[in-house]
Amino acid sequence: MKKTLLLSILSLVVQQAIAQTPNCAPSVAAHRGFSAFFPENTIPAFEACIRVGTDYVEGDIVFTADRVPIMLHDETVDRTTNGTGPAARYTLEEIQALEAGFPDKFGDKFAGTRIPTLEEALDLVKANNTLFCFELKVPGIAKQVADIIREKGMESQGIVQSFLPQELTILKGYAPEIPCLLLSFSTGFTQYIDYAATIGIEYYGPGGIPEQSEIDHAHENNIKYWVYTIDDTTDMYTLMRMGADGIFTNRPDRLEGISKPLIKNSNDTLYANWLAGNIQWKLNGQNIAGATDTFYVAKQAGEYSFTAINAQNCNYESPVFSFGTSAIAAHNDDWKFVTFASAAGIFVTANASLNEEALVRLYDISGKQLMATRSLLAQPVALVAGNLAKGLYVVTVQTSTKVYTQKVVY
Ligand code: G3P
Ligand code: CA
Repeated sequence: MKKTLLLSILSLVVQQAIAQTPNCAPSVAAHRGFSAFFPENTIPAFEACIRVGTDYVEGDIVFTADRVPIMLHDETVDRTTNGTGPAARYTLEEIQALEAGFPDKFGDKFAGTRIPTLEEALDLVKANNTLFCFELKVPGIAKQVADIIREKGMESQGIVQSFLPQELTILKGYAPEIPCLLLSFSTGFTQYIDYAATIGIEYYGPGGIPEQSEIDHAHENNIKYWVYTIDDTTDMYTLMRMGADGIFTNRPDRLEGISKPLIKNSNDTLYANWLAGNIQWKLNGQNIAGATDTFYVAKQAGEYSFTAINAQNCNYESPVFSFGTSAIAAHNDDWKFVTFASAAGIFVTANASLNEEALVRLYDISGKQLMATRSLLAQPVALVAGNLAKGLYVVTVQTSTKVYTQKVVY
């Protein structure tokens, strides 16, 4: 009896602790894949955003003439392929014969790229253990999409979104276990949030920067608030300060680099990448008095970290950065960075004993992030950041417990 009581009290204390320190870094949703640099809604764009480390792959679903769900944003194929006319007039075979490498934007750089089916896109998401956020663009598609998600056992591996409330109502009635996001063309429509709440929709997503009260309203209704389509870093910080739960972006590389707290160092100066709230530096888990700037000059060896709190009291904890201890020296010895002076970019290899998933980032020497990718360290990690100029770069490898930094000559 006593033991049960003790366990209940302990569970309550743990729950309260979790409630007081929610981890609410916004989810990164790569809009139409990594569409800034790759042809939208294609496998190369989806693969690229997965390499960057995005949380969700965003994409759009329409029907072919033979009623196969495919990944395409527009009603017609004109803008992104070498074909013309409505997608719904093409059979799957016909539409997959088109060049879908967005020739008007990328020339022949992605020649041979095809429009993928929903199934192909989901298979990629599943194989890479990431998440999908796919949008129903046309009416009458909800049940078929739900069936495909169920067949693949991916009900917990993503979100179905739509501007069409009727489609989501059908989906929620048919497959209530699949999370849904109701889109809105603009902020300012709290009645849509109320509607979403009444039919059990879990997410709401308007276009543009909202008032704080709108995000608060969603949260009061237990609905997560996402925003599209945000490519500007200042806007990203604004939304992070306000407590947005997710951000759709064409620049997942940019958002990845700032949405998760991270410490970098230059000699004894430690830098927090966090600019979206109040910072408190810690040494060995204890607050350092007055250390609330975005950088801190370390005065002694130890385990440094910071917490950052945004407008909604979300409390972000950075990974620990070991400074000046024998541990960091030993860990650095474990790492081997190999560079290849080719168009393929910089490759990182790790000692086999450090076989875990890590976030690997590439910076230029001014500290500007060029690329980020989440990858298993068992094999070489490729960091490809466009046409790299010859020079000095910085690679950071963030594991579950530490951040390692290494300068690399390219
Ligand atoms: O799903 C968010 C965003 O993608 C909605 O706009 O037109 O790009 O599908 P759109
Ligand atoms: Ca969309």
